[in-house]
Parts: sequence; structure tokens; C-alpha cells
Amino acid sequence: MKIERFSWCNFRNLQKGEFVPDKNVNVIYGRNAQGKTNLLEGMWLFTGERSFRGSKDSELLHNGCSLGGIMLNFYAAGRSQAAEIKIAGGRRTVELNGIKKRSCTSLIGKFCSVVFSPEHLSLIYGGPAGRRNFMDAAICQIKPAYAGLFSEYSRSLAQRNALLKDIPSHAELMDTLDIWDERLVEAGMKIMRARSAYVEKIAPCAEKFYSGMCSGREKFLLKYEQNSPDFASALQKSRRQDMLAGHTCVGPHRDDIAIIISGLDARAYGSQGQKRSAVIALKLAEAEMLKKAIGEAPVIFLDDVLSELDSERQNYLLNRLDGFQVFLTCCGPDISRFPGCGAVFKVEGGRPEAVCNLP
Ligand SMILES: Nc1ncnc2c1ncn2[C@@H]1O[C@H](COP(=O)(O)OP(=O)(O)O)[C@@H](O)[C@H]1O
Ligand SMILES: [Mg+2]
Repeated sequence: MKIERFSWCNFRNLQKGEFVPDKNVNVIYGRNAQGKTNLLEGMWLFTGERSFRGSKDSELLHNGCSLGGIMLNFYAAGRSQAAEIKIAGGRRTVELNGIKKRSCTSLIGKFCSVVFSPEHLSLIYGGPAGRRNFMDAAICQIKPAYAGLFSEYSRSLAQRNALLKDIPSHAELMDTLDIWDERLVEAGMKIMRARSAYVEKIAPCAEKFYSGMCSGREKFLLKYEQNSPDFASALQKSRRQDMLAGHTCVGPHRDDIAIIISGLDARAYGSQGQKRSAVIALKLAEAEMLKKAIGEAPVIFLDDVLSELDSERQNYLLNRLDGFQVFLTCCGPDISRFPGCGAVFKVEGGRPEAVCNLP
């Protein structure tokens, strides 16, 4: 999977322009707030996922503009393809190879990539929702049908929760609860199986990357923590509690991933460097898994990753990325001197420019 060309119009601080990247490593450097992350975000949106910054669609348009868009030419599944995302009226619409799609999620699985940005550190120090989202988004790219399964679960959960709130005043609704329980268990069990299979596969790979980054000095362990392995019976047992709480207290929407470094829970005890390395290991493992599953290397976006790593870790990381098209951002041009570097762009005021002779 390679990006051949990316162009934009009124996307955040990128007003109108395009760039043609190298098929290996692309370094994008520039001072703060010039548009480096915006560039990565624009390309990332073609995965069909939401912005990795958690932004709303309306925030993506250049301030004060009512219309804008981004276009991506990429090579995937053995041919050159083109996708366009238009933003108007606070909404996104999408076309793939000239055909209008129902929604951006139709792009999932067509253009695949993995992103690491400083926000992803919350994967470790943040709550379990971020870790569930990591599993779910990663599985979606491998098995696009998982997105449908996931929304079915979420819908059933919302219905069941609404019902739980209504039952105290409408006892006759009690029978309906069985129906929602059944649907919830059916979708929930499938989600749990998919997550469990995913974590089982990704764990050895992430452990290998982590160990490589710290030269084997620390042991890294990843484990899927199921809230209720026997979901059907857990749901039965928790009925009374659920009615009191007014929501569903058990199920895969309460799952988590345990991240253990040298025997300690990194979520609570990890140092800054350990957390950063753990997220990078997770992300590289995600890329590796995606490559195996779809038979093509996904594009890797690394936003501000290298700046805080020592040179041993930087070297390890850069040498692991062989065969992937990579976009990495940093403040200065130093990284561009890395031998595998293909193209260098300097971004200023929302305009990237190819740099031939480094300062
Ligand atoms: N919708 C928008 N319209 C105009 N400018 C925006 C919009 N969203 C973000 N920006 C601007 O983009 C700049 C940040 O770009 P960013 O890519 O995060 O910078 P960096 O180069 O540090 O990664 C900021 O100056 C911010 O004000
Ligand atoms: Mg940035």
C-alpha cells in the first residue's frame, strides 16, 4: 500500500496544494503549528476511521470556509486508486474511484494505515475505552464486517439500557428484556471471540518489538481482560443490578487489555519512556498484523515519535520499517540524515515543500 499523491483544499491550515511522496520513508519537518500533523491527519482519514485527534467533521474545514476536501491517489490491491473526501455543511461525503459511497466507513479496508501520535500515549495511561478502541479499530481494518457487528452490539446495548430505565414504571416491558439480552449476547460473544483472537496474535509480535527497543532489558506482556467470559450467564446474574443502575454493568463494553512490563502493570506503574515504547510496540505490531492479514504493508504515520527517544531506540525503530511507506514528522531536519530516508519535506504556514539540499 503506497500513497502516490495527496492533495487538499481548505483542509485545516492547508489551503490549496498537493504533494507527491516517496514510496519509502518521508520526513516532514517544520516548526510547531505549521501543519505537519494536519497533513498526516488528512491522509489518515482515508482509512475510513475517525480523526485520530478525535475532531468533529466541522473542525476539519479551514476556518470560515463552507466547502473543502482532500484527495488521495494510492496504490493498493494491485492497482492505482483514487479517493476523495468532501467536507460541506459539517459533513463528510466520499467517493472511491469515481463512485459515491454511502459513508466514510465504506473506505475501511481499502486504504490501510497505522498511526502513532502523542495522543496515543493515552492508550496506556488513559481509561480502558481507548484500549478497546485500539482493538476494535485494528480488527475493522482486517475484517471490515466487524464494524457492522460492533454497531449492532452498540445499538442493542443502547436499547437494553433505555429499557432498563423504563422497566420500573412499565413492568410489562420485562418480557422484552429477554429479546434484547439474546441479541446482546449473540453480538457480544462474536466481539469477544474476535478480540481474543486478535490479542493472541498481536501479543508475541508486540513483545518482540518492545524487547528490541530496550535490547531485551525488560519483559513486555499483553493480555486481553474479558469483563465477563461467560457473557450469557453474567448478563442473567446482573439483571437486578442493571435495573438498579439503569444500564448494563457487564459485557465486552467493559473489557480491557492488560499491559505488563517486567511484572508491573504499565497502566499504573509505567515510566514515561516505558509507556511511549509500549505504544510504539503496539502500533508496530498492529502494522505487522495488518500486513499479514491483507497481504500488503499498510502505510505508517509517525507523528512526533522520534523526538523523545534515545538514539538506540530511534535506530531500532527506523530499521524495523523496511518495506512500509512511512511518514514521520519532527521539528528539525536531523532525522532526514538517516540512511533509509527517501524524501524530505519542510512545512511552513500550511505549505509543504520538497527539500533537496538539507540545511
Ligand atoms: N480548521 C482549521 N482552520 C484553520 N487553521 C486550523 C484549523 N485546525 C487547525 N488549524 C491550525 O493548524 C495549526 C496546527 O497544525 P498542526 O498540523 O497541528 O501543527 P504541527 O506542525 O505542529 O503538527 C495551528 O496553527 C491551528 O490553529
Ligand atoms: Mg504536530
